Amino acid sequence: MRFKNKVAVVTGAGQGIGEHYAKALAAEGAAVVVAEINEANGTRVAASINEAGGKAIFVRTDVASEESAMAMGRAAEKAFGGVDLLINNAAIYAGMRMESELTIDLAYYRRFMDVNIHGALVVTRAVYQSMKQRGGGAIVNGSSTAAYIGYDYYGVAKLALNGLTMSLARVLGPMNIRINGIAPGPTDTEATRTTVPAAVLDSIVAQLPLARLGATDDISNTVLFLLSDAASWITGQTWCVDGGMIRRP
Ligand SMILES: NC(=O)c1ccc[n+]([C@@H]2O[C@H](COP(=O)([O-])OP(=O)(O)OC[C@H]3O[C@@H](n4cnc5c(N)ncnc54)[C@H](O)[C@@H]3O)[C@@H](O)[C@H]2O)c1
Repeated sequence: MRFKNKVAVVTGAGQGIGEHYAKALAAEGAAVVVAEINEANGTRVAASINEAGGKAIFVRTDVASEESAMAMGRAAEKAFGGVDLLINNAAIYAGMRMESELTIDLAYYRRFMDVNIHGALVVTRAVYQSMKQRGGGAIVNGSSTAAYIGYDYYGVAKLALNGLTMSLARVLGPMNIRINGIAPGPTDTEATRTTVPAAVLDSIVAQLPLARLGATDDISNTVLFLLSDAASWITGQTWCVDGGMIRRP
């Protein structure tokens, strides 16, 4: 019960890795705000946490909208008294257009960047004052190994997110708020199975030193550690959890 009496916001918690984060945090005592754009999925995840004896609310949130993020922050304060933890997990990933930045429709590209880069900043801005008032907090940004392999606009967005993690660590640190990132390799979610062609996925996995798809547990184990007090002197880092896909000095 590492997160007893803590309040956690998880963006994009309506399915996949985000749903897993929300349930794992609730199982360890946190009250969870499911901040998700998909109403049906967000409602389902919050209900299933409450049915299992945990505490959760769903707040329909578009992370790219300041108005929507601020309203979510207010809803969290009203329901649970404030915010201690945030996972910026939401992204356009399932069903994303597989096209290079040279030809992708520019309006789509701009919306994509608004969600996948700026969403993390917009939601952080909506909750950091509450964390500060409560004596500190912890944030994890959902990056990807795609950041390190020059992989189209999806990778560009994740690399920018890593930069945001580095930069925000400097300004949030004095408020006792830590911010780190997680860069998963190919992880077994419905989004991966429906978005990445099977042959591409198989060839990526075959080249991993630990040659299997990541499980959502592999990812959430590290994220929950980064959110916990055991990581109290770690900030500004993005950690790969990827079966050894990215190996750097
Ligand atoms: N699955 C993988 O292999 C993998 C690998 C590396 C990184 N990631 C990253 O992990 C995260 C989760 O991956 P997943 O496989 O669960 O993807 P997913 O597409 O299933 O989940 C993303 C969630 O974010 C929500 N969302 C999208 N736009 C939103 C918005 N504007 N506001 C609020 N919510 C919004 C979606 O509705 C969805 O519930 C993403 O950031 C993804 O880029 C995934």
